Amino acid sequence: VHPTAVRRASPIVVQSEHTSYTNDHIISKFTNRGADVTIVEGQYIVTPTAKPYEFQTARKVAKTGLMMVGWGGNNGSTLSATILANRHNIVWRTKSGVQQPNYIGSLLRASTVRLGADPSTGKDVYVPISDVLPMVHPNDLVLGGWDISGARLDEAMKRAQVLDWDLQRQVMPHMAALGSPLPSIYYPDFIAANQEARADNVVPGTDKQAHLEHLRADIRKFKETHGLDRVVVFWTANTERYSDIIPGVNDTADNLLNAIKASHSEVSPSTLFAVAAILEGEPFVNGAPQNTFVPGVIELAERLQSFIGGDDLKSGQTKLKSVFAEFLVNAGIKPLSIASYNHLGNNDGHNLSAEPQFKSKEISKSSVVDDMVSANALLFKPSAVGAPAGSKEAKGEHPDHIVVIKYVPAVGDSKRAIDEYYSEIFCGGRSTINIFNECEDSLLATPLILDLTILTELLTRVKYRDASAGKDFKPLYPILSLLSYMLKAPLVKPGTDVVNSLNRQRNALETFLKACIGLEGSSDLLLETRIW
Ligand code: NAI
Repeated sequence: VHPTAVRRASPIVVQSEHTSYTNDHIISKFTNRGADVTIVEGQYIVTPTAKPYEFQTARKVAKTGLMMVGWGGNNGSTLSATILANRHNIVWRTKSGVQQPNYIGSLLRASTVRLGADPSTGKDVYVPISDVLPMVHPNDLVLGGWDISGARLDEAMKRAQVLDWDLQRQVMPHMAALGSPLPSIYYPDFIAANQEARADNVVPGTDKQAHLEHLRADIRKFKETHGLDRVVVFWTANTERYSDIIPGVNDTADNLLNAIKASHSEVSPSTLFAVAAILEGEPFVNGAPQNTFVPGVIELAERLQSFIGGDDLKSGQTKLKSVFAEFLVNAGIKPLSIASYNHLGNNDGHNLSAEPQFKSKEISKSSVVDDMVSANALLFKPSAVGAPAGSKEAKGEHPDHIVVIKYVPAVGDSKRAIDEYYSEIFCGGRSTINIFNECEDSLLATPLILDLTILTELLTRVKYRDASAGKDFKPLYPILSLLSYMLKAPLVKPGTDVVNSLNRQRNALETFLKACIGLEGSSDLLLETRIW
């Protein structure tokens, strides 16, 4: 029996022996079901597995700050202005009428999951995802961050040219009250030379150890000033070039910490921010494509059990690709080539017009169909065992896949993405599908930053234990691969497979959130509708 007070405080109450509620926690039992498969003389020998776990979710939502690196950019300023519009319920006029603020585009705040069915009507019952477990409301996030450009947030919003003027006009005083971003770390070698004119707000000097301590002090001060329990540090600054992975420099946690002490040239600003957050025990999420998470960062996060997630927001073209390529392959159709073109005219596009920064984006956009292709050996010949390393046979069959990005200032933040899917169909036939997608880039990205921040905070409150071994509850593994739905090139536990399929990513998240309240099983089987 649940105490009434506990029950009232929660939009969903699960009445089952698998779920219990205390004032502080929701505790659930969950059986992780799978199957071990071995292949013996061409036959698949399958042994179902079932391992019992318990989850414990702290019910008190942390007072959470979001510190954005690149706060004055299009994403940072758009996120701030839209939160303020929601918080102060600012409505504005567009040429089509009166517009209300909302959180459309947020998986957590604008999409639902099926809980079950109403026994009296047999009808499905859906709830907002944000009701499944206690989560921060975006309106309650305390905003802050850094930028190499010192423009005040109201000026940054104006410069971004994303929001309707009538909204900008009304939200302006609130934005001005946020002030200017904190001075940031600028190592010109990592972003495009065309960004130099913006860099008027930088922490002086070249001593990387001093820079690290400066950032750590910024995080601590922000936390203290606002009385926060948790700060999520979020990279939404310019895309950097890739860092070289150099043995002895960034390959282990200790080497990386020493490389920072020695101000080694290959330590990027984003890596420095990640290390600062990890050392402060606060989560760090990378919304851009560069390899911020060099092996030394991952080892440090593991050592200190500090959460990290990345890379690169999956907002438009890649999100569609992670649905569309899967649709083709799962329908038994064989994509032969995927050709993607983008043009955009915002500052992100300007930065990506430089080759090394474009390369980072190209890499993160390119791997997105790999898992779908390798899941279907009927259509794509798998890699041949024993084939010479690097050969076509060793790589396995794969569609041709190219990505082009061009900077066209006139279109501003309104990005164009053109994709051609050229596929083999039945008995030698061919199918060509072209998709033309046009969208305000920052309005796609902003809800993803919110979802990533809110989920990250939640995942810091979830602990688990192996119920069979009677062990203590412990936190999740530090690389938060449950964030994959919002990320183009999901970072996962080393040695485990990346899942790019948007459907599988959503399923994983939904299953996990439900498991935390003691619900399990596929809600799409609907067995009762298929039997007498
Ligand atoms: P933006 O160029 O408008 O903003 C980036 C901001 O970062 C600028 O204000 C710049 O001054 C600042 N900056 C650069 N280096 C910095 C440093 N070391 N420290 C602090 N600030 C620094 O770009 P936007 O459109 O806001 O995008 C931000 C990032 O998100 C880019 O890396 C972009 O590739 C990535 N992204 C954006 C998506 C979108 O749909 N808008 C989708 C996927 C990724």
